[in-house]
Amino acid sequence: MAAVYVLNGPNLNLLGMREPETYGAATLADVEASLRKLCAARGIDLAFRQSNSEGDLVSWIQEAGSAGAPVILNAGAYTHTSIAIHDAIRGAKADVVEVHISNVHAREKFRHHSYVSPVAKGVILGFGVRVYALAFEALFPSI
Ligand code: DQA
Repeated sequence: MAAVYVLNGPNLNLLGMREPETYGAATLADVEASLRKLCAARGIDLAFRQSNSEGDLVSWIQEAGSAGAPVILNAGAYTHTSIAIHDAIRGAKADVVEVHISNVHAREKFRHHSYVSPVAKGVILGFGVRVYALAFEALFPSI
């Protein structure tokens, strides 16, 4: 069975109550539920995870690479700091779609640089939590 990993980094467990003017009202459980529906409809196995720890994200990217599964990755603030995540994506040879709920380029300068983008297959950002479904469609096109 085809599989997809959806990996969420630090503070994304707070979605829904964290800066709703920037990230919206949906919770991470809402995001998971909508992806579970998409995956069920297409017979795709979903590993949906969140961690505040960089090492967990590194291990899960390696796991996805070993499983030959693509990754939808919102690395949160680690996007802008983590060479370890960059190296994990390179080393695991996993297909990664980088997502961000907010348009990071319209925000503070420190959010403009991503260590993930150079090793990602593509980047989708700024469309609220719909970026997860858009990334899913990019990986598993229905049209
Ligand atoms: C984010 C953007 C990051 O800059 C921020 O640190 C996050 C969330 C987004 O989804 O818009 O935690 O990745």
